[in-house]
Amino acid sequence: MEDIYILGIESSCDETSVSIVKNGYEEIATVVLSQMDTHANYGGVVPEIASRMHVENITIVIEETLKKANMNMSDITAIAVTYGPGLIGCLLIGVETAVTLSYIYKKPLIPVHHIAGHIYANNLVSKMQFPLISLVVSGGHTELIYMKEDYSFEKIGGTLDDAVGECYDKVARVLGLPYPGGPNIDKLAHTGNDTYDLPIPLNDNTYNFSFSGIKSAVINLVHNEEQRGNKIRKSDVACSFQNRAIESLTKKTMRALKEYNVKNLIIAGGVSANSELRNKFIELSEKNGINLTIPNIKYCTDNAAMIAAAGYFAYKKGIRADYNLKAQANVDLF
Ligand code: KG4
Ligand code: ZN
Repeated sequence: MEDIYILGIESSCDETSVSIVKNGYEEIATVVLSQMDTHANYGGVVPEIASRMHVENITIVIEETLKKANMNMSDITAIAVTYGPGLIGCLLIGVETAVTLSYIYKKPLIPVHHIAGHIYANNLVSKMQFPLISLVVSGGHTELIYMKEDYSFEKIGGTLDDAVGECYDKVARVLGLPYPGGPNIDKLAHTGNDTYDLPIPLNDNTYNFSFSGIKSAVINLVHNEEQRGNKIRKSDVACSFQNRAIESLTKKTMRALKEYNVKNLIIAGGVSANSELRNKFIELSEKNGINLTIPNIKYCTDNAAMIAAAGYFAYKKGIRADYNLKAQANVDLF
């Protein structure tokens, strides 16, 4: 059978990334150009700056990826691109680039949902086993997804308010930590103790999550301590917050695994880079004989390898876009 090389493009937020993946599992070359240092000056991603930087960088990143792979466009089978969800101005750059390449080089164009990409980052670690449950934890999403087979996504639960990554970032802001908040809470939490009494939100028997309550509890705690003139122990707040947030994720995921009787648990999205979340799931999986897959750290946050990996299965399923493909800021996977 002829090898299939997918060129993936990701530009939904503040990473300009291009990657070539062979037959869905084998990463040939990836370039990720992060704008994190620029946005850190503003305490968060500035959409206008992000899209302008994507315009400046996208062709350079494509050329670098091809050079790294020692390939040219004639070696590529199809072009996969994140069409949503994300920042509209940022998505537009990736989509327009992919449409142009597809038109010039006469290659099929494959639209990839950003979350499908995060899920398929796991195939670059080991072949996903179906049926499976995927816990998606990112800056915009917190969901439990059941997959009967490749490219079939059934939501069994999700956050009713904030996404867990968004909550990490907001708590970091309350504690005065620099952007990006998630990794900084992760680091700080390891130097503290679980001493503050914070609630596990939505501690019920559904598969839904809620993170706005725990965020408010942290805000109230910090304000109350300040008003009393007490010094807040930031590392202890970080540790207590992180433990409650992760407890809520592990508890519901473990219950879903029992009910759905799956062959594989996979974790996806930026928060899967969190060291405590990784450790807790590794520990629980070993204890309960669960086949766990977590992406390599570098492919937990946004990158194009995951888009090319997902693009392969979309390609196999016959999913195609025409030159009218539109970027969509909000779009469901289901
Ligand atoms: O998947 P991603 O790169 O972008 C979205 O699709 O949203 O995820 C970014 C989110 C941010 O909220 C960031 O703070 C969080 O992932 N994050 C982490 C860690 N690394 C990234 N949260 C907790 N601990 C980490 N180590
Ligand atoms: Zn993402």
